[in-house]
Amino acid sequence: MDRVPCIAGNWKMNKNITEALQLVEEMLPRLSELSGVERVVCPPFIALPAVAERLKDEDVFVGSQNVHWKEAGAFTGEISPTMLQDLCTFAIIGHSERRAYFGETDETVNLRVRAALDHGLRPIVCVGETLEQREAGQTIDVVSTQVSQGFADISKEDFRRVIVAYEPIWAIGTGKAATPEDANETIVASIRPVLTSMFGEDIAQATRIQYGGSVKSGNAAEFFQQPDIDGALVGGASLRADDFIAIVKAARG
Ligand code: PGA
Repeated sequence: MDRVPCIAGNWKMNKNITEALQLVEEMLPRLSELSGVERVVCPPFIALPAVAERLKDEDVFVGSQNVHWKEAGAFTGEISPTMLQDLCTFAIIGHSERRAYFGETDETVNLRVRAALDHGLRPIVCVGETLEQREAGQTIDVVSTQVSQGFADISKEDFRRVIVAYEPIWAIGTGKAATPEDANETIVASIRPVLTSMFGEDIAQATRIQYGGSVKSGNAAEFFQQPDIDGALVGGASLRADDFIAIVKAARG
């Protein structure tokens, strides 16, 4: 199955507007020219309009780091899908930092995914186990449940626009990546089979599944050699132009 790899840079709470534009400038035009891989940058909300404007004629997509499920209303601090739909192509949803620090659950992830899809956004949905869960042998259960609940009540047609990011939580920002074989095995054991039962074999096989967690220019290629890993969601290394470009290049094979 030919799946176009996708490399998304999650800048997290880093870079003000000026710094975000500087980083974009540093990556262009090299980033624009690396066809064959979908490239996405996800700056903080405040920098989205400036970055989207700068990238509008470039072959690089913009994504948000979250999206609320309501179009408007009394939800202090949230950003709605209607506010994002003209700025972004992608929206990261259910990142483990949102789940761990901001009370995000599989139910709210599901609401956000459905709202994003209803507004034409392409969700990048994060799933993954903690170290405790891994050591207790619960990885398959935990990840399968995140997938089945996170993608409940979504039509096959809409699901085609979803990317899944498998991010073992213990590997995020720790410098301690999962082994590529382990990551591939978890995807094969707990993500594709659940997608098959929900959306059918064809869609499950066509779905892009990224790996995330301490991906660097030095280890990226090993992940992309795995048959079920279709790119990466990159945190720390996406803040450095040369590293991010090297990771995109590694995904071209
Ligand atoms: P990291 O973050 O690459 O800094 O480990 C990955 C992520 O949180 O998506």
